[in-house]
Amino acid sequence: MAAVSSSLPASVNGPAPSLAVPPDTLTADNISVTYRTRRGIIEALHQVSLRIGQGEFVTLLGPSGCGKSTLLKIAAGLLQPSAGRIAIAGIPSTVPNRAIGVAFQKPTLMPWKTVLQNILVPAHTLKLDMRAARDRAAGLLDLMGLSEFADNYPNELSGGMQQRVGLARMLLGDPELLLMDEPFAALDAMTREKLTFELQRIWLRDRKSVLFITHSIPEAVFLSDRVLVMSARPGKIIEDYPIPLARPRSLATLDSPVFSEACRHLRRHFVEQTL
Ligand SMILES: Nc1ncnc2c1ncn2[C@@H]1O[C@H](COP(=O)(O)OP(=O)(O)OP(=O)(O)O)[C@@H](O)[C@H]1O
Ligand SMILES: [Mg+2]
Repeated sequence: MAAVSSSLPASVNGPAPSLAVPPDTLTADNISVTYRTRRGIIEALHQVSLRIGQGEFVTLLGPSGCGKSTLLKIAAGLLQPSAGRIAIAGIPSTVPNRAIGVAFQKPTLMPWKTVLQNILVPAHTLKLDMRAARDRAAGLLDLMGLSEFADNYPNELSGGMQQRVGLARMLLGDPELLLMDEPFAALDAMTREKLTFELQRIWLRDRKSVLFITHSIPEAVFLSDRVLVMSARPGKIIEDYPIPLARPRSLATLDSPVFSEACRHLRRHFVEQTL
């Protein structure tokens, strides 16, 4: 087959098929971070390298203080590493950019703005077209089941609803990469489980690249394509563990032997660290 087509003129063959894989959404090479404090120097991260492919859901799992949030802030362009390089879609991440959406543990909504106004906050900072942003905000309100609360204020919402507003705000600029730092940690267990399913639904719809942080092993296994396990500070990646579960994952997934085995495997790291 190759011999036949190679004998044709280039105009018939057309351009050579590209064998290149799509560029990774995030590439971090040998990231180290040292904080200088009044009480001395703290090495938070030590030569951390990672890749997140297009549409991949990757979770950082590690003990408290191992540098997960530090790494996420670097990816967001909010903090510069002491050494190493990080790029988003091949472009060095040195300042916040519109290809990135961030959600933190607390949704940090502005209490004096309505739900809709809060979701529209990035439209101003990212200089989005206001009409298009409003249309997108309406779609996101619908996606999050919040349409009837568009004109409510944050203090009129439950914790789970506030967190959903935070997720909608993160998605407003249609970012390529979602950075989520324990977005469900402050919620009660039932709301947390519901939002975990919601997040999977949204991710399956849009297939954004995600860097997710959690302390919950089952949450990491349920949501992720890969889980990166970090050591205690200074944080290093000690395992890159692919999750062999088909999608969509469901309630039945939580009872499957593969799910249990993945949780057991990851838990071993932390049992060993605390014994
Ligand atoms: N602004 C800062 N100044 C000085 N030290 C810092 C600063 N931010 C973080 N650290 C230190 O760096 C280390 C890593 O912090 P980081 O917040 O990244 O950890 P983490 O893995 O997100 O922890 P947790 O799971 O508790 O959120 C900790 O020892 C912390 O004390
Ligand atoms: Mg943190």
